[in-house]
Order: sequence, then structure tokens, then C-alpha cells
Amino acid sequence: MSQQGFYFNPFDPEFRANPYPHFPPLLAGPPRQLNLFMPTTLIARHADVVTVLRDHQRFTVRRPEIPFRERIDPFGGAPTILTADPPVHSRLRRLVSTAFTPRRVRELKPRIHEITDELLNGAGDCREIEAMATLANALPVIVIAELLGVSAADHSQFKQWSNDLVSSFGQDMATGPSPAGLAAKDALRRYLSAVIAQRRANPAEDLISALVAASDEAEVLSEDELLAFVVLLLLAGNETTTNLIGNGLLALCRHPDQQQRLRDSRELIPTAIEEMLRYDPPVQMTIRMPTSTTTVGGTEIPAGTLAMVLLAAANRDPARFPRPDRFDVGREPNDHVSFGEGVHFCLGAPLARLEGAIAIGSMLEKFPRLQLANPEAKLEYRGSMALRGLSKLPLSVR
Ligand code: HEM
Repeated sequence: MSQQGFYFNPFDPEFRANPYPHFPPLLAGPPRQLNLFMPTTLIARHADVVTVLRDHQRFTVRRPEIPFRERIDPFGGAPTILTADPPVHSRLRRLVSTAFTPRRVRELKPRIHEITDELLNGAGDCREIEAMATLANALPVIVIAELLGVSAADHSQFKQWSNDLVSSFGQDMATGPSPAGLAAKDALRRYLSAVIAQRRANPAEDLISALVAASDEAEVLSEDELLAFVVLLLLAGNETTTNLIGNGLLALCRHPDQQQRLRDSRELIPTAIEEMLRYDPPVQMTIRMPTSTTTVGGTEIPAGTLAMVLLAAANRDPARFPRPDRFDVGREPNDHVSFGEGVHFCLGAPLARLEGAIAIGSMLEKFPRLQLANPEAKLEYRGSMALRGLSKLPLSVR
């Protein structure tokens, strides 16, 4: 879709492989409009993105009616925190906030180290590793599955369902969901329903048991909502964090000076993680719809159309970030929007930051160098439209 002075087509694999050169024209003026699968306004500038995400009265998270929606919806039509506005959103978020506290996340630290060590030790003394398979794919799914209380033996099955499902999200509007995506959705829902029933009968010390107890006690969560909630936690916490680790390692390989700086000053790990999130965000965009015709940054957005909120573009806005295309592991302040903004700000941000810091820190610790095994080879990205992540990342590590 080549439009007046800009190109934006998230269905185009070439565009998805490197969307960044297409952002400057969008950042240079008011929100632009085009027809993707429906009339769409592109919200790119940092100030406009923050305005839209903070204003849940003017912009709803309820999704537009898109073709195939019902068939692929992994939430079975139930509201989730991600897809409901206040007050339903507030009720759901309160509930999970008590079961998913920052203290609980801090307690996970030793276990995340342990899992990371086990995964990296599996690589032995290899000269080359495939970082997605070795670490980035595995760590987040193991952590979220343990948190939920899913049997360790089922982790890889879990990851497969999650991947198939997430990949089919990106394509459904253009081509319809893939058969693998539909099968994964049904299998995952059946599996998690069984786990919920089992925890109701025999509660354990896990998040599913806590959610079952909270919903039974206060009757705040219907059975459909409970299942949708568990499905959402699994999906939201999985490929996103995988992509933080993969995209972050790639940035370190492509910027050896910054890698060296981080090796010399490990105390920069927290700012480095924020910079990885800003520079190449795992979630590139989200969507909202205006509740009535409204104006953002000088552009009128008609009711019933789509506001596509380009988090990745906002993170490169020169009005907010000096030299935005520079990867700087010490960047501060770093007001990126990779976890969103406003009432839907990512619930899992503390967990994602912790996993990212442990994963990247351990890679630097264990391997004396991190370089692309074949710098000339074209990197392959996964299929999703909104999520940006590598299929494979072969690294030369010694
Ligand atoms: C680097 C990793 C992650 C990134 C980049 C990320 C990004 C985001 C973004 C952009 C949103 C807001 C979407 C919107 O406003 O439309 C969001 C919401 C959410 N995230 Fe994350 N996320 C990550 C990891 C996690 C993890 C590990 C979990 C849970 C275990 C999680 C759970 C959630 C939930 C439940 C919401 C919905 C919150 C609400 O609507 O109130 N995320 N995330």
C-alpha cells in the first residue's frame, strides 16, 4: 500500500522484516489515513500514542468486527482485561493484581536463574548456538507455565500451541486463520479447562488455583472469563518475552561497541533492557477504536474506524528521543511505550524485565562473544503482524 509519501503495509513480509525506515514520514506530521482491511488512522508520534492509550473514554479496546473473528478468538467471546474497558477491565485487573503481585515476581528470581542456567548448560561448549531454540523460546514458556501451575512435561506442547495461535492472529485479517492456529486454539482451551477443573478439586500453590479461589469466593469471574484469563496470561507472557530476548541479542550483535560497553559495565543491564524494548519492540502495535468521531494530533478519526497505535514508531520519535535510531545501552531517560500506557499498561512488565535481565546477563556471562554466525544471511521473522520476533538466531559464541 503505497500512499501519499509513505508506505505502511504490515501484511508485507518485507515491510515486517524492517519497518523502521518507513516511520520517519509518519512521525513528521499529523496521523495519516489509509484503508488496510478497514479505514485506518496510523497513530505514530509519541505524544499522539500516549494521548490515545491514556484516554479509554474516547478510545475503546473493544475489537472491530473482523472476518473470521469468532473462529479464531482464543477467549471464546469472553471479555479479558486486554479486550475490556473499565469498569469490566478494572474488576478483572484487580482480581489478577492480587494473585500476580510484584512480590510474587521477585520470588521467582532464583528459579528464573536456575532455568536459564539449565538451558544454557545444555549448549555445552558449542562454538555456535541457535539462541531462539536454546534460550529465548524456552525460558518464558517455562516460567509462565510454572507460574500457572502447568505440568513441566507439557511445556513444549504449550509453546507449540501458543506459537501456532499467535502466528495465526497476524494473518487472519488478510487470509483467514491457519488450520494449525484453529486446532491450537481448541486444544489449548480444552487443556486449560481440564487444569482449571482439576485445581478446583485439588487446589495447589499456583496462579490458576489462586484465580479459581478468588473467582469462587467473590464470584467476580464467570467460568468463561476464568478460562479466557488463563489463556490470555499464557499467550501474553510467552512470545512477547521470547522476542525481547531474541531482538535484544540481535541488537547487541549488530552493535558490538554497545555489547562491549555492557560487558564492561554490567550495572547497565537495566537501562540496556529498556533500550532493547525501545529499539526493537516485541509488540509493534496495538489497536483502539474511537467511541465517536474525534480528533488526534490534527486528524479527524471517524467513529467506527480503526486507530492503529504504532508503539514501535513512537519509540523512534525524534521529538521524544534524541538520535532515536541509535542503540544506546545507557540511554536515560527512556520513556518508551513498548509496554503500552494507561489502564492497560502491561501487567507482566516486571516479570518480562526480570526474565530479560537474567537471560541477557547470563548470555554475556557464559559466552565470551556474541556474534551473528552468518552476518550476510537474511534473518527470518515469524508470521505475526503485531509481534516482531525472529524464527532463528544462530550465534557464534566462542
Ligand atoms: C517483553 C515482554 C512484554 C511486552 C513487550 C508486553 C507488551 C504489552 C503491551 C504493549 C500491552 C498493552 C496492550 C494494549 O494496550 O493494547 C500489554 C498488556 C498486557 N500484558 Fe504484556 N508484554 C510483555 C510481557 C508480558 C508478560 C510476561 C505477561 C504475563 C505474564 C504479560 C501480560 C499482559 C497482560 C495480562 C496485559 C493486559 C493488561 C491490561 O489490559 O490491563 N505481558 N503487554
